[in-house]
Amino acid sequence: MPNASPEKLSESAAAVELQRLAGEIAHHNRLYHGEDAPEISDADYDALVRRNAELERLFPDLVRADSPSRQVGAAPEGPLAKVPHALPMLSLDNAFSDEEVADFVGRVRRFLRLGEDEEVALTAEPKIDGLSCSLRYENGRLVLAATRGDGSVGEDVTPNVRTIAEIPQQLKGDAPDIFEVRGEVYMSKADFASLNARQAEAGGKIFANPRNAAAGSLRQKDPAITAARPLRFYAHGWGEASALPADSQIGVMRAIESWGIPLSEDLERFCDLGSLLAFYRGIERKRADLGFDIDGVVYKVDRLDWQRRLGQVARAPRWALAHKFPAERAETVLEAIDIQVGRTGKLTPVARLTPVSVGGVTVTNATLHNADEIARLGVRVGDRVLIQRAGDVIPQVLENLTPEVERPAFHFPDHCPQCGSEAVREEGEVDIRCTGGLICPTQRVERLRHFVSRHALDIEGLGIVHIESFFRDEILASPADIFRLRDNREKLLGRERWAETSVDNLLAAIDSRRRPPLDRFLYALGIRHVGEVTARDLARRYGSLARLRGMIGQALAAREEIQPVLGEDERKHLVRRDKAVVAIVDTPNIGPEVANALLDFFEEPHNVEVVDDLLAAGVEPQDVVWQTRESPVSGKTLVFTGSLETLSRDEAKAQAEALGAKVSGSVSAKTDLLIAGPGAGSKLKKAQELGIEVIDEAGWNAIVAAAS
Ligand code: IVH
Repeated sequence: MPNASPEKLSESAAAVELQRLAGEIAHHNRLYHGEDAPEISDADYDALVRRNAELERLFPDLVRADSPSRQVGAAPEGPLAKVPHALPMLSLDNAFSDEEVADFVGRVRRFLRLGEDEEVALTAEPKIDGLSCSLRYENGRLVLAATRGDGSVGEDVTPNVRTIAEIPQQLKGDAPDIFEVRGEVYMSKADFASLNARQAEAGGKIFANPRNAAAGSLRQKDPAITAARPLRFYAHGWGEASALPADSQIGVMRAIESWGIPLSEDLERFCDLGSLLAFYRGIERKRADLGFDIDGVVYKVDRLDWQRRLGQVARAPRWALAHKFPAERAETVLEAIDIQVGRTGKLTPVARLTPVSVGGVTVTNATLHNADEIARLGVRVGDRVLIQRAGDVIPQVLENLTPEVERPAFHFPDHCPQCGSEAVREEGEVDIRCTGGLICPTQRVERLRHFVSRHALDIEGLGIVHIESFFRDEILASPADIFRLRDNREKLLGRERWAETSVDNLLAAIDSRRRPPLDRFLYALGIRHVGEVTARDLARRYGSLARLRGMIGQALAAREEIQPVLGEDERKHLVRRDKAVVAIVDTPNIGPEVANALLDFFEEPHNVEVVDDLLAAGVEPQDVVWQTRESPVSGKTLVFTGSLETLSRDEAKAQAEALGAKVSGSVSAKTDLLIAGPGAGSKLKKAQELGIEVIDEAGWNAIVAAAS
């Protein structure tokens, strides 16, 4: 979907988009890390992350507390115990071109203020497509193994990891007292293929790719299942360590190898950009012949003292970079364009393709996104098309290879293929939606599905197949019916394949969700633009459903009042209406689009009915009490001026931000602290006039030391 270029966005449009991106990226993180079931390609995911980063660069004041740039992966959910990481498990920044790699090296040089003749050595190794795992050894014995989770808290997979032959229970030689090896658990391509063959025979889950198979195999409650799966491991770094065996990345990695842990066979060290890029090309060439999936090459600054100084930005170290491979492509024929109807009525065109193998995976469907995309590509049924599969699932159509052939153009339907209602495109929107609302059976089923989904009410045992058949047989029509299923126990028992235990398990699962946290409840309602993040913001702001509805009542009244008063100029009118509404909704991160979607939802009587009906059926959304964590200097505004002797300006800024402070370029009444080095001039003078506290670089270093 083409987006406006970031430079052209107004601040408020950027804020709205950053909010959307936060929700969207969080959603995909959860699918990828939490459920091992991504629904977009890695390339599409990377594009979202980049857009987010670009907007944050242009609008630094709009960086959200829940920004994806500050998070890694997704908080683990599910049955495994949670374990906090002694040191966070970080993610990596990505580069897609040689220029970006050169920029990275340039940034490292500038940050460290290196002289021109000073060499920057980097290690390089393949980026393997597995899932990261931290192995904690105490006195050489493996005591804990944890997945990455959200980077701060992972899942305890110790018993599972103990079944992986390549991971020693006891390290050889003399490892430090405490040493956490970090690396990747993965599955070879051959093992993945035979696992899937076995699964298919046994009627078990088929995995989309080796990464998902590795994740699904490791994150098991029963280690016996993991033991039966052919998992492998290779180390690419470390976490907490009571001592380090070397002062370089390569040195520590070789020591880890000497303790009996596998490393990549292709780990090397280079001193110039040219050899680094040549290494990348070499790995890219042999990619298809490797026995496992890789998606790029990772570079790391070799000197550990430099790594320490470079530190990290939000979620990724400044001293490392993932240089990704381009996506894989293939040609095939577009056999049909099907239109799918989503929960909100959105019509999504899906390309049905003649099956084709792309990078070892057979592709039969690809997304076409929306009507504009079909027009842009100019694709018609029968055309030969170029498709791309980047990493995972849902491939994309990139190009029509037979535009010159005469064929009838594709006409996007103007009626919903499911319910026949009119399908319309609202002004300023890219999507075409079915206007059938609750009369559209597909929308109703999709809403029910969303309501019980993992991040909404999370009702186990009520999958789409059951929802569809209960809906067809009029046992379920609206969400509240789920909570009345107990009254229909006899009916359920009369159904084919529903034995007493399965019915009772389902009813118990439903009962356990009668008191959902407010944010999950709000998210489950499926209000347009209210994703999990927004639902959380609203729950945090209002605490209870009653308070939230009180505010909505007021805002609706205000909206109605404002509407007729304004109006000569529609645009102005809309903007003012939005502003008034946003002021009443008064929730951090919520802009006009979301605010109005919320009001639109509650303005619609049958939505209010759905909510009231849920309450009547005994659902009690739980009030939310949130704790905020403060760090000692968080929230303060600092200004650095003059020259700094022990640090570069970037480094100082990074330190301040890591301590939760905001760094500003100019002194004003809002400044809390000025750090002045030699040569400070007008800023120092102004700070003194305003009575702002002033310290020197040594004073700053003391604050940093005390906080770490
Ligand atoms: S270094 C602090 N090296 O890629 C740096 N990561 O996209 C942490 N990965 O979370 C990672 N191969 O799970 C590193 N050779 C490699 C890697 C690698 C795969 C994974 C790792 C990381 C993710 C980031």
